[in-house]
Amino acid sequence: MGDSAWAAVTQSSAFVFGLEAAGEDSRVMQWYWGPRLPDEALAEVVRQAPRRIHSGFHDPRDVDELLPVEGGARWGVPSLQVTYEGGVRSVELTFAEAVVADSEIELVLRDPLGLRVGLHVRVASEVVERWVSLTNEGEHAVRLGRVDSGSWVIPERAGYRYTGVAGAWAQETQLHRAELAVGETTFTSRTGTTSHRANPWIMIDAGDATEELGEVWSVALAWSGSWRLTAQRRPEGDVAVTAGFGHDGPTWHLAPGESLLTPPVLGLRTCGGYGAASRAWHDYARHHVLPTPFEERPVLYNSWEATWFDVHEEGQIELARRAADLGVELFVVDDGWFGGRVDDRRGLGDWWPNPDRFPRGLSKLFDTVRELGMRAGLWVEPEMVNPDSDLYREHPDWVLHYPGRRRDTLRHQLVLNYGRADVREWAIGWLSGLVSEYGLDYFKWDMNRSFTQAGWPDAGERADLLWIEHTRGVYAVLDTLRERHPGLRIESCSGGGGRVDFGILRRTDEVWTSDNTDARDRQAIQEGYSYLYPACAMSAWVTDSPNPHTRREVPLAYRFHVAMAGVLGIGGDLTRWSAEELEQARSLVAAYKAVRPVIQHGRLHRLAGDPGVTASAVQYSHEDRVVVLAYNPFALAKRPPRRVRLAGLDPSALYESAEGERWHGQTLMSHGLELPTWFITGPDYRSEMVVLRRVSG
Ligand code: GLA
Repeated sequence: MGDSAWAAVTQSSAFVFGLEAAGEDSRVMQWYWGPRLPDEALAEVVRQAPRRIHSGFHDPRDVDELLPVEGGARWGVPSLQVTYEGGVRSVELTFAEAVVADSEIELVLRDPLGLRVGLHVRVASEVVERWVSLTNEGEHAVRLGRVDSGSWVIPERAGYRYTGVAGAWAQETQLHRAELAVGETTFTSRTGTTSHRANPWIMIDAGDATEELGEVWSVALAWSGSWRLTAQRRPEGDVAVTAGFGHDGPTWHLAPGESLLTPPVLGLRTCGGYGAASRAWHDYARHHVLPTPFEERPVLYNSWEATWFDVHEEGQIELARRAADLGVELFVVDDGWFGGRVDDRRGLGDWWPNPDRFPRGLSKLFDTVRELGMRAGLWVEPEMVNPDSDLYREHPDWVLHYPGRRRDTLRHQLVLNYGRADVREWAIGWLSGLVSEYGLDYFKWDMNRSFTQAGWPDAGERADLLWIEHTRGVYAVLDTLRERHPGLRIESCSGGGGRVDFGILRRTDEVWTSDNTDARDRQAIQEGYSYLYPACAMSAWVTDSPNPHTRREVPLAYRFHVAMAGVLGIGGDLTRWSAEELEQARSLVAAYKAVRPVIQHGRLHRLAGDPGVTASAVQYSHEDRVVVLAYNPFALAKRPPRRVRLAGLDPSALYESAEGERWHGQTLMSHGLELPTWFITGPDYRSEMVVLRRVSG
């Protein structure tokens, strides 16, 4: 668009930005983020850039900047805070050049005190990816207080409402929706991980969006360590969202010649309500994030809730036989197989089979698993160590710690410092060794505590970089493992869904969504998860009833239908399931496999209801098939809804049910499909799966 304005244009949207002023106070502004405009019209939004009223107290232009700095006449939330030699805190940038490559633009700005700032913009499907590179070209070290990946302006509307997820252990991704308050609304993690408490994304609409209608702006951060996202709604009315890695407190040292690259912050504008926003995020995940998006995920069995720490060869072989008989394709041995790990007090760090429990190593078990036609997987927690372990006795300095301070344990464990090269080499050594020795197909990579006393004594001034370097170290180990073992698949787990984000999903295949396996609780968790992340990355198990965590009794079919909405797994104690239950499970596993590509790779429509609370339904469509999973946790069926209206079908095509009944797509979308689960009064927890095939049109 010229030498002072640029546009990132997707199929349906445009993000237009440019220089408001060159010279000493260069500002790179967002001029427009809305529906795609004809190319020749893009300049019009620059010509009509927002004008704002200034005063001696107030210069509101920074709300429009791609990276508002702390410095000069700016009093909003800074995305970049730097302290130079001598305590100087005003960042003063001059535009240097625009480097335009195929699909990427870097705008380079320089502070005469020696800082080079690169603002990067790239289009990936419907998403605009942005990140920042900093290089210290000066003679002195600088200290960075905040380096966000970018700030986004939400266009002027009559109102602003946000949607996000928050939660806790066993209660992840609970949906929150409310008017955005005037002031600064911050979501953050200070745990060193993405965290259970919040997930690094926000959606904003004008207060008028529904599941199916309306314009929605989303911002998400692709990062698995601590983070902060702030939405500011200024008293004058403007709204901007800035997000980046790190949390308030730690500051980062950048020596002369050093650079720092932020993770990408992702912006997405969609029309078609929250549903369309989610589908666009799922497309992005498939085409730009997940390493194996189009592979079918196997039905897995995981032994955790069946045995807890009581893991031994014989018991695992027995479970494996029963799992294989149900049609399970991947058998995963959870915690308790290694070192002296008979409870959570010891053993983390000692990654060899426990000789009392597996006197022949793991070969006998995994050979049997393979003979039974299943793949083999193992639980590991590579970032952790119990003080009661050989590893800790040998390397007490490998953990996060400050000399002379306590080393607080949580779940009796300490965090290994993945910023250290020796720790990463050790991890790659034994993880890769296990894969080679046992021909492993799968790791469940767990991470079961937050950071405390996060010191790195050898790193001197750079110690706080730990908050970044640990996450990067984990990424590097995962990347190396995948490179060395291309067939290896990895599940990300952090006490359930404590580390779910587009950073970890770049190098893992699915996520253990929550330790809470109660089907009803799980429905709300799955709904929140589905806002950004696709079903092929949402692992879900059927476990026992009453549920070990909540004591709630839920029928087997309901438990299955909830888990079948993602990557189906089984995690119950199969030695205690009755013959009828095993029979029913076998046929539900087969039913899942028959529709698996539709669920795992299909387009999701959250059709109706408040999942787990009222009658609800979700739909997946893929190629010529449509799957509807419908639930009714309560017996009462006196009031509507009785029918579910489907979505996203071809109105003129005919769709046929398994029983041979046919409907026009339009009928299914306008009049709906009658669901016995919804309209016939019966016991609590009824559910059903409807499969339709497009037969013409
Ligand atoms: C975490 C995981 C569980 C299980 C246990 C094992 O809590 O989320 O699924 O693996 O660790 O200790």
